[in-house]
Amino acid sequence: MSVLITNIGELITNAPRDAVSVASPGPYAVVRDAALVIADGLVAWTGPAAEAPAADSAVDAGGRAVLPGFVDSHAHLVFAGERGAEFAARMAGRPYSAGGIRSTVAATRAADDDQLRANLARLAAEMLAQGTTTFECKSGYGLTVADEARSIALAAEVTPEVTYLGAHVVPAEFDGDVAAYVELVCGQMLAACAPQAKWVDVFCERGAFGADEARAVLRAGESAGLQARVHANQLGPGPGVQVAVAAEAASADHCTYLSDADVDALASSGGTVATLLPGVEFSTRQPYPDARRLLDAGVTVAIATDCNPGSCFTSSMPFCVALAVREMRMTTEEAVWAATAGGAHALRRTDVGHLGAGARADLIMLDAPSHAYLAYRPGVPQIAGVWRSGVLR
Ligand code: NIG
Ligand code: FE
Repeated sequence: MSVLITNIGELITNAPRDAVSVASPGPYAVVRDAALVIADGLVAWTGPAAEAPAADSAVDAGGRAVLPGFVDSHAHLVFAGERGAEFAARMAGRPYSAGGIRSTVAATRAADDDQLRANLARLAAEMLAQGTTTFECKSGYGLTVADEARSIALAAEVTPEVTYLGAHVVPAEFDGDVAAYVELVCGQMLAACAPQAKWVDVFCERGAFGADEARAVLRAGESAGLQARVHANQLGPGPGVQVAVAAEAASADHCTYLSDADVDALASSGGTVATLLPGVEFSTRQPYPDARRLLDAGVTVAIATDCNPGSCFTSSMPFCVALAVREMRMTTEEAVWAATAGGAHALRRTDVGHLGAGARADLIMLDAPSHAYLAYRPGVPQIAGVWRSGVLR
């Protein structure tokens, strides 16, 4: 069964050989007056509409833009409760601190599986409706062996991109004994979580885990078969980015406070992506990361939501793209690339984030003639259709 989507005003493929008219960053690429053929859940062909092959059925895009589905490479979706009052207090002048995580930990431990599953399903549906076709999901609000293991199991029900974040904060019952908690995270808790996880993550930050602890967590995770990613340099300067690069992590996430040495390390890394989460700075009134400095240094940049009940409760990649353009001075092309191909790099995925032949047919039709509308019309629902693995959702 094949489907031809034709009369596409602007088709963003992120596949270099398709570049027709736009001088653009990296492999971002666009075809005007384009068509795309889906067959067996994959992209079978892209090119000028006038040259499109026949297919079993056809969809007329009416001049709208089509782009790869968003790849949200950073989200914390397994939790209970909410922290709206904490947000309101922040907007009234109180600063964000990592300690708020503990209130979500208490609510999550108290919730039953079905409550957690329902919340997760609601957020996953929100994401899909806003064009996200691949997302990562972390544990990190359980922080006991049993609660982390069930968080991982629930995340695995909705995505293959499951991240073990037992090292999110030190839970209250380990106050004053960080070493004992790190031992649990690297031992029994890891053993319970690793079988269903792909990634290991650590919040390397003052108030959470230091460099030595972060290294220990990543090393243990790697020996259990997990790949590394790091929450780095979110709330202040620190060792997180260097730890991430040294561990050959797929991604250093946040990157809000970077030294020149941090930027150099990312630029010369063998593929550690800088994942920027501008919704966090929006929601915590922190300064935005300097995306231009990273891009100009040649660092691979991704954009993700960080959807979580504390520092940023949005599931909207379009919102994050708009923030990246307006507040981080990324071009519209750079922002869309970072939210699609960038996220795929951060998850070490080659089958998503682009629409080259053979890619998974994960794509968005915008109710707009160009990708720029994501930032040009912020806050307006513009997703006219989402195909995941070739199926219109
Ligand atoms: O990525 N930085 C650590 N973890 C989350 C915040 C979690 C929370 O506040 O509940 C983040 O921002
Ligand atoms: Fe996070």
